[in-house]
Amino acid sequence: MDDKKVYLSERDIPRQWYNLAADLPTSPRPPLGADGRPITPDMLSAVFPMNLIEQEVSTKRWIDIPEEVLEILYRWRPSPLRRAVYLERHLKTPARIYYKDESLSPPGSHKPNTAVAQAWYNKQFGIKRLTTETGAGQWGSALAFACNLIGLECKVYMVRISFDQKPLRKSMMRIWGGTCVASPSDQTEFGRRILREMPDTPGSLGIAISEAIEEAVSDASGKTRYSLGSVLNHVMLHQTIIGLEAQKQLALINEKQPDIIIGCAGGGSNFAGLAFPFVNDKINGAHITIIPTEPTACPTLTKGPFAYDFGDTACQTPLLAMFTLGHGFVPPPIHAGGLRYHGMAPLVSHAVREGLLEPRSYDQIRCYEAALTWARTEGFICAPETSHAVACVIDEANRAKKEGREKVILMNYSGHGLMDLAGYNKFLDGELTEYHLPEEELRRSLAAIKDLPKP
Ligand SMILES: Cc1ncc(COP(=O)(O)O)c(C=O)c1O
Repeated sequence: MDDKKVYLSERDIPRQWYNLAADLPTSPRPPLGADGRPITPDMLSAVFPMNLIEQEVSTKRWIDIPEEVLEILYRWRPSPLRRAVYLERHLKTPARIYYKDESLSPPGSHKPNTAVAQAWYNKQFGIKRLTTETGAGQWGSALAFACNLIGLECKVYMVRISFDQKPLRKSMMRIWGGTCVASPSDQTEFGRRILREMPDTPGSLGIAISEAIEEAVSDASGKTRYSLGSVLNHVMLHQTIIGLEAQKQLALINEKQPDIIIGCAGGGSNFAGLAFPFVNDKINGAHITIIPTEPTACPTLTKGPFAYDFGDTACQTPLLAMFTLGHGFVPPPIHAGGLRYHGMAPLVSHAVREGLLEPRSYDQIRCYEAALTWARTEGFICAPETSHAVACVIDEANRAKKEGREKVILMNYSGHGLMDLAGYNKFLDGELTEYHLPEEELRRSLAAIKDLPKP
């Protein structure tokens, strides 16, 4: 009988994170300051603690995971590698489909892998309080969870549309001792400005990031820092524990190498976490198709240009070389809140430029159809973000069937959807429609970055 899940013992958990920056064939473009020159680490020190900035700029291949961070990760890690046998049977595919189940963490997604690490490094640095943004609420709840265990205060700016659509995520943040406000809010200069200019805005991750950074850097005590749940190099690094575990688990069941790796991509972190250790294999000659998937409503990798742009709407961050839809882009209120970000991790963007990744976009209707197929075969109800990976898995499994090939497909199951049932209800009631970002809107949004330096 084929194994339906593969567990790794706690003794075999990876003890180092993998840094793709060490192995990319060419170096990514550096972040730039307001003067157009590469930033130096001290320029980030009002926003992040120096120990995380060191990771951000590191090109060391392996970075030790502190024992105290592992102690917390053991609560749910190593995460199981499951085989989607019921979906395979339903599709009658010869493909073997595996998925890394990141939905089993207490907050229900991959996000605490970095939340715990970031809270720990901030605490080591003497920080007392973290501010952050959240889209769907997964990241905000993960950071509240981590801060509670590590002993930090946590303040979360939650994108307005998700704040209204996902009230139970707020409850999770409160249970873990965090504070959550809707963004734009009246608690920051920038939030008040946006509320004056666009009182009915659904908000965006870019706006919420601006508010959280403003609050962190304006704390005169110097004891507040900002924490980002995706995009940055150190976040990708912390997530690589997913792919490193998966490599060990596949070896345990004698699967040599996946043919296809799939993860949904908002800022890029769960995708990178699973994919980067395998991207290294690909750089070294392995034949793997590696696919980040995103919404047609927010098609950063598939429609955006590779450009220098700000990570936030108020233009407070350094300029990052990435695929972007423009920092002023306010995506339509699709239900996959965590995929509504205008930019993409510079490391993921660079790997796309190197031809190592093959991005695809999926419409929300196809994604919900895929999520229902998944729930009615595998049984689990996935997060709307994760459904973008599931849709691609189904496509690839059907392609394997057509070609009559026994492919090995590996997916990151980034989170459960038990807090996202309102979106499922809308789909089941026929209230959702397809949405493809109109060219005209993209052009308007990109006008804001046309005078920025070019990579
Ligand atoms: C379940 C889930 N998957 C994926 C994402 C997208 O983020 P990232 O691309 O950083 O993994 C999110 C973000 O909130 C999420 O909650």
